[in-house]
Amino acid sequence: MCRIERIHAREVFDSRGMPTVEVEVTCAGSRPGRAIVPSGASTGKYESVELRDRDSPRLDGTGVARAVENVCGEIAAALKGADASDQQDIDRRLCDLDGTDNKRRLGANATLGVSLAAAYAAAEAQGISFVDHLNRVWRSVPGTVNPAMSLPLPMVNMISGGLHAGGNLDIQDVLILPVGAGSFRQAWEWVISVYRRLGRLLSDEGYEGHLVGDEGGYGPRLKNNEDGIRFVVSAIESAGLEPGEQVAIGLDVAASHFYRDGSYHLSKPTEANLTADAMIDLLDDWVARYPIVSIEDALGEDDWNGWKRLTDRLGSKVQLIGDDLFVTNRARLQRGVEEGVGNSILIKLNQAGTLWETLETMRLAIDRGYRPVISARSGETEDTTIADLAVATGAGQIKVGSAARSERLAKYNQLLRLEEQLDGRIEFVGSKVLGGF
Ligand code: PGA
Ligand code: ZN
Repeated sequence: MCRIERIHAREVFDSRGMPTVEVEVTCAGSRPGRAIVPSGASTGKYESVELRDRDSPRLDGTGVARAVENVCGEIAAALKGADASDQQDIDRRLCDLDGTDNKRRLGANATLGVSLAAAYAAAEAQGISFVDHLNRVWRSVPGTVNPAMSLPLPMVNMISGGLHAGGNLDIQDVLILPVGAGSFRQAWEWVISVYRRLGRLLSDEGYEGHLVGDEGGYGPRLKNNEDGIRFVVSAIESAGLEPGEQVAIGLDVAASHFYRDGSYHLSKPTEANLTADAMIDLLDDWVARYPIVSIEDALGEDDWNGWKRLTDRLGSKVQLIGDDLFVTNRARLQRGVEEGVGNSILIKLNQAGTLWETLETMRLAIDRGYRPVISARSGETEDTTIADLAVATGAGQIKVGSAARSERLAKYNQLLRLEEQLDGRIEFVGSKVLGGF
């Protein structure tokens, strides 16, 4: 029993200078556990609600004073004396107290902050590492398939577009997956090499090879989306690595953001309004010509019919990840499973709003053969929870952003630390996690 004695919150700031919630939970006789909540820009319409002080002139209405008050007031009163090591109970109380289906009353930024800080406090109180505590919690979530703890394959942003880089490209991310690496450290060193070569290649061609987007990827104004893929393939080659065999390509299309009135409005190379089927043709063509193994949000969050046809066409060739589509929500994932839509799910803690609900969604995914990809948000902080989460659950993949900006590197550095500290206890998953892709 780790009895909660104190819960405190404050407003701090994320990597875009946006206010966010930091929470400290203290159990009797031990040091506080602390967590900071991240924040998205290309948010899905069905995510849990992030509470901001929209009606206040302070910080142009972006403040989170109300969410902070909810933690220090109502939530602190309700959770005082509760057992921080019983994550299910903590998170059930948070959901019951909120009383809505999407955390719109207390704010998912308030509930997630408390949920995660309680987990850190429980680890402190038990005198065990955070990753070991998370692994205990994970094993207590009902499910049948139980992956061992492992080091994830990183999916790393190289070129940023869409809402993360001022609309330079339609596609939000061109990413690399160092599938042929033998350890996390080697995977990471390959990533750094490719990232450096890419910056040079872009500069050599007259593009902005040093300006980066919200997640640290380069944000060049390329002529078209496909050029982004071409540049990344060249950078892999220029680093002396084999595209596909050693380093593969991933895309986050983030298509919800250019889907309007039944069609996909691409601005590059020329204004093109594509139907879902034309989008699928385009992606199928790219998959045939480039070493692409993973595509996220290829179609919009409401386009279930398009998604079904996409999965029938490409689902056996590549990983198809639902981010805005599934929003880490069990009911939406259940619909996906029943309708045969997608084969993988992006996992973002703040889309769900509590740790336990996030883990339940991951359990459903793994039991139904959907690969979970643990993900950061475009607005991040020094908080490294997702690195431990990916290891503790054996999720297999992690997506944090690029190889620059400390809010990204904080997570990769934590993975390097865990690789060293857990040497002999855990393995790097490498290409195994992608099966036949
Ligand atoms: P977001 O972007 O955090 O801005 O939503 C990340 C993603 O789309 O994967
Ligand atoms: Zn996404």
